[in-house]
Amino acid sequence: MGKERILVTGGAGFLGSHLCDRFLKEGFHVIAMDNLITGDLRNIEHLFKSPAFEFYHHDVSKYVHIPGELKYILHFASPASPIDYLKIPIQTLKVGSLGTHNLLGLARAKKARILVASTSEVYGDPLVHPQVEEYYGNVNPIGPRGVYDEAKRFQEAITMAYHTYHNVETRIIRIFNTYGPRMRLNDGRVLPAFIGQALRGEDLTVFGDGSQTRSFCYVSDQVEGIYRLLMSDYPLPVNIGNPDEITILEFAEEIVKLTGTSQKIIFNPLPKDDPKQRQPNTTKAKSLLGWEAKVSRSEGLKITYEYFKSLPQDVLFQRDHKNFESYIR
Ligand SMILES: NC(=O)c1ccc[n+]([C@@H]2O[C@H](COP(=O)([O-])OP(=O)(O)OC[C@H]3O[C@@H](n4cnc5c(N)ncnc54)[C@H](O)[C@@H]3O)[C@@H](O)[C@H]2O)c1
Repeated sequence: MGKERILVTGGAGFLGSHLCDRFLKEGFHVIAMDNLITGDLRNIEHLFKSPAFEFYHHDVSKYVHIPGELKYILHFASPASPIDYLKIPIQTLKVGSLGTHNLLGLARAKKARILVASTSEVYGDPLVHPQVEEYYGNVNPIGPRGVYDEAKRFQEAITMAYHTYHNVETRIIRIFNTYGPRMRLNDGRVLPAFIGQALRGEDLTVFGDGSQTRSFCYVSDQVEGIYRLLMSDYPLPVNIGNPDEITILEFAEEIVKLTGTSQKIIFNPLPKDDPKQRQPNTTKAKSLLGWEAKVSRSEGLKITYEYFKSLPQDVLFQRDHKNFESYIR
């Protein structure tokens, strides 16, 4: 019998590429699909030599066709950082809505189980802390982040509808801030932003007074959570993230210490609708999946820093390597 086949959309991105690695290791035939709008083939270059790996350059907001059988679909295609979805808002809405619809249709046709990547952003600027899965969220639909948050909320709604009305086996993961090698240095997220500034010898810019909090999950923990949820029989959303919460100012201080930079921490105005606090309640992940974050921030940061340090100088100084205009319709 041949290997079981899995489709990973967004497979050339940060999380998608780590998922390709993991499922190849688990003995699957992995098909990565990506339009490379925010991803990079360098993330999966090492996989092309494997006969168990295929890559389709395709926009999942258009009709998706995969010949042959599929056991699982992981839908991870979507711009994920504010810098990206502010530049390509329509694509972000389309991939969360039309893209998800296409993949749910594919799952139905192939009788495949599908896991969709949702986000802590469905909670918006949360009024409940830490965030439990039962919390409905506090999202501004017409604010700058609305394109991402509402696309993901729609994604959850249509996924549940396919589960309820078409009996598709669905899983919904709500991912909290995750970091690790293969993140883009210039993607605007706080962790690569600080490390990039330290490496370029620039001051570290904190937005607001730095009292807003975040919780950072190392990528291997996140991948393990995704794997366990996919293999579980639980169709409702599950939070996966590291509950170890830190203020952005304390975090900037940690990065100063880690990198040994002699630069200062400076303060800039807070962007609109920036969430003030972010911490997952992971009780469900623990009780349903036996999952807990294992990698401490200091351990994970050390590995990530080594990765960023190993990047060529031109990548370090590149502000934006993506030509979004060519994708905009
Ligand atoms: N990294 C995090 O902390 C985090 C947190 C919450 C949710 N997520 C979710 O996880 C998923 C992956 O995020 P990431 O951090 O790896 O981001 P990423 O930008 O590195 O990866 C996303 C990938 O999707 C691809 N893509 C985007 N639109 C596409 C389309 N229409 N068709 C085909 N491919 C498309 C991009 O080219 C990219 O390779 C996203 O759905 C994101 O919303 C990530």
